[in-house]
Amino acid sequence: MTARILPGDDPEALAEAAAAIRAGEPVAFPTETVYGLGANALDPLAVARVFEAKDRPRFDPLIVHIAAAEELERYADRRDLADARVERLAARFWPGPLTVVLRKRETIPGIVTAGLDTVGLRVPDHPIALRLIGAAGVPIAAPSANRFGGLSPTRAEHVRRQLGGRIGLILDGGPSRIGVESTVLLLADGRRTLLRPGGLPVEEIEAEIGPLEAEVGPLDAEGRPGQREAGRGADADKRPALSPGRMIAHYAPGVPLEIVPPDVPVVIAPDERVGLLAGSAGGQARAESLGARFAAVEVPAPDGDPLRLAAGLFEALHRLDTAGLDRIVAQPVPEVGLGRAIMDRLRRAAAAA
Ligand code: TXA
Ligand code: MG
Repeated sequence: MTARILPGDDPEALAEAAAAIRAGEPVAFPTETVYGLGANALDPLAVARVFEAKDRPRFDPLIVHIAAAEELERYADRRDLADARVERLAARFWPGPLTVVLRKRETIPGIVTAGLDTVGLRVPDHPIALRLIGAAGVPIAAPSANRFGGLSPTRAEHVRRQLGGRIGLILDGGPSRIGVESTVLLLADGRRTLLRPGGLPVEEIEAEIGPLEAEVGPLDAEGRPGQREAGRGADADKRPALSPGRMIAHYAPGVPLEIVPPDVPVVIAPDERVGLLAGSAGGQARAESLGARFAAVEVPAPDGDPLRLAAGLFEALHRLDTAGLDRIVAQPVPEVGLGRAIMDRLRRAAAAA
C-alpha cells in the first residue's frame, strides 16, 4: 500500500476519506495541533488497524474526536457531564486543543480506551477534521499520525514518511497551526489533573476552573508514573497509569537529542555533525559566540515567541532528523504557557536518546 495525499479541501477527496472511515479503513487527516490517524471509534476492528499501522502498544488509549460538545452525552458518563467544569471548558475552548478525560459510556469499545473506564474526547479546531467527522457520521478515534515513539507530524509529508507504506489515504490540510498535541485534562470523578501539557496553556484552563492538581510526571517504559509521582505513596508503582501514553521516551527523532542552555558551550569534535534547535535568534548567536560550529541550525521563532516555536517545533525536528546529523542540541525555553508543552516534548525526545 502506498498512501495517496489528497487535498483535504476538495469535496471529492473528503467524501472518499469519509467512505474509507465508514468502511473501517484508517485515514490520516489534519487538525490544528498535529495530523491524526483516524478510524471509526465505534468499530473495534477499524481501531485495531490504527494500532497496527502505528505499531502502537495496545495499552495506550486513543482520543475520540467529535464534531460538537453536544455529542459528549453519547460517549461520556452523565455523572461527569453534570460537573459544571466540563461544560464550562467545552464552551470556552472547543473547538480547540483541549482533550478532556471523562468516565466512558458503553458506546465506546474497550480497544479505544485500552481497557480504561475513561475516554479522552475533543472537538478539533480544523475545518477539514470537522467536515470529515460530519461526513463520516461517526466519532473518530485518532492518535497522532506517526509511528509509535516517532515525531508527531505537522504536515501531510511527515505522515507519508512514517506511515506511507501502511495506510491508503492522507488528507492534506497544510501545516498544523498549533504544532504540539492537545492538552490532556483528567476530569473524571471530580478530578482536575493535567495528564499532558499541550496546545492549550494550563494558565488558561486554571483561569476558568481554578488550580489543577499537580501534573503527573513522565511515565516509565511500562506506562507507570515516574519519579515525581512515585514519591507520593509507597504503592505508586502498583497503581495503574493515569495516562498510559505519557511514557518518557516518546516524540523522539532518530538522532540523539540533548537539552543545552545557550550559555553552556557545546563541544563538537572535528568530524562530528551537530544540529542546533535554537530557542531564538539570540540563543543561536549566543551558542555560536561560544565557539560551536553547527552543521544545521533551526530557529522556528527568531523572536522567541513560544506560539511560533510550538508551531514550528516538530517541523524543525523533522528537518534536523533528516539532515544526516550525529546529534541534536536543543535550547530550553521558560516553562510558562506553551513553553510547558515545548519542554515536555523536548525532554521526551532527550530521554529517548
Ligand atoms: O492533539 C492531539 O491530541 C492529537 C490530535 C490528532 O488530536 N492526538 C494525539 O493523540 O496526540 P495521541 O494518541 O498521540 O496522544 C493521546 C494522549 C496519550 O498520551 C494518551 O495516553 C492520552 O492522550 N489519553 C487518551 N485517552 C486517555 C484516557 N482515557 N485516560 C488517560 N489518558 C488518555
Ligand atoms: Mg502521539
